[in-house]
Amino acid sequence: MTIKAWRSSIIHCIADPSKVGNDNAYEYFEDGIIVVENGIITQLGHAHDLIATLAPNVQVEEHPDGLILPGLIDTHIHYPQTDMIAAYGEQLLEWLNKYTFPEESKFKDKAHAKDVAERFTQELLKNGTTTALVFGTVHKESVDAFFETVETQNLRMICGKVMMDRNAPDYLTDTPQSSYEDSKELIERWHEKGRLHYAVTPRFAPTSTPEQLHQAGKLLKEFDRLYLHTHLSENVNECEWVQSLFPESENYLDVYDKHQLLSERSVFAHGIHLCDSEYHRLHDTGSAISFCPTSNLFIGSGLFKLDKAEEHNVNVGLGTDVGGGTSFSLLTTLSEAYKVTQLQGKNLSPIKSLYLATLGGAEALRLEEKIGNLKPTTEADFIILDKQATPLIAKRLANTHNIEDLLFVLMTIGDDRVIKETYSMGEKVYSKPTT
Ligand code: GUN
Ligand code: ZN
Repeated sequence: MTIKAWRSSIIHCIADPSKVGNDNAYEYFEDGIIVVENGIITQLGHAHDLIATLAPNVQVEEHPDGLILPGLIDTHIHYPQTDMIAAYGEQLLEWLNKYTFPEESKFKDKAHAKDVAERFTQELLKNGTTTALVFGTVHKESVDAFFETVETQNLRMICGKVMMDRNAPDYLTDTPQSSYEDSKELIERWHEKGRLHYAVTPRFAPTSTPEQLHQAGKLLKEFDRLYLHTHLSENVNECEWVQSLFPESENYLDVYDKHQLLSERSVFAHGIHLCDSEYHRLHDTGSAISFCPTSNLFIGSGLFKLDKAEEHNVNVGLGTDVGGGTSFSLLTTLSEAYKVTQLQGKNLSPIKSLYLATLGGAEALRLEEKIGNLKPTTEADFIILDKQATPLIAKRLANTHNIEDLLFVLMTIGDDRVIKETYSMGEKVYSKPTT
């Protein structure tokens, strides 16, 4: 039995601020302790209450300039797009044809896939992301390479092979039958192996025939607790295209709904251009949206309406959507999320931001009993931020007077430089190099 403890400032969300109000949504320990036994959090509290109760042999690691948070959760990202981040000058449909499809063709080669998966995982950990819902490519090798990589670090991760049987180059398409068989093989190999989960991953409605969407629904029925991961209503031209490809569907979401793809483990990236009945259906089925502000701004898709999602009680997580998105950092992503709400006359609060990047993501993924908060019995995936990371941050934080202001500054000007250490199940998986 190994017992470890960390002493620092600690904050985590315990509920959605839009449901219980900011003050009831979090716990903050200015001088706190977190105790971990065999990878599981067993105690969390104020140092003055806990310190005397620890057995004398328990080592306490002290981080007086630190702030401990749950590991960050990225609810939408494409690992095969790592090396094409920052591709210039196009919106979604042209961007896919010009940059994305050629890049994804390289993942037929397992060695290439492994190289990218390793560098991608390092980027996640360096940015404090401990769980992500990840797109592979159409090649099953891409998913093997990803899971093999994250398994060695014992990370809680979700991935799936893209299903895509039309409106894409021949070198990148499968068929309804082969996509079913390849996905099934991967599910049997990886789903719920240790901390790994499988997501059935039709790319988006335009690149799947109704027959293929039917096969995706069949997989969801045949195996328990699978995720469904796809894109929804991101770009205006895409939405028009979907209407013309599926004229019998009432709206974009209805295309997926007609194939039984809406569930408590369904995550739809973007959801920018939705009508009220789509929000209702997302709510009624317990489906979630991944809000990806850096991508929505970078590829010019539009402004996500967080207030609408809240009004309809739809679960929302935060996504980087690299390589449509421009940063692996969920802190930077929150900074852009704030601007997206500002442009709509609203202000995303720092506590809601913390929620979106942690517990909100966990709830979207139905993993809140395991990750996204620091309650005893959850898994010890956490990060230590450095309040002295740069001279500017140190100086600016010296002028803050409460934890909400402090969080806001860290989210607005912080990035990978403020991530000092990242832990998975109580084991250190990243430590910022000292310069
Ligand atoms: N819609 C379909 N494929 C993609 C993709 O790779 N990235 C984004 N942002 N949207 C998509
Ligand atoms: Zn995407």
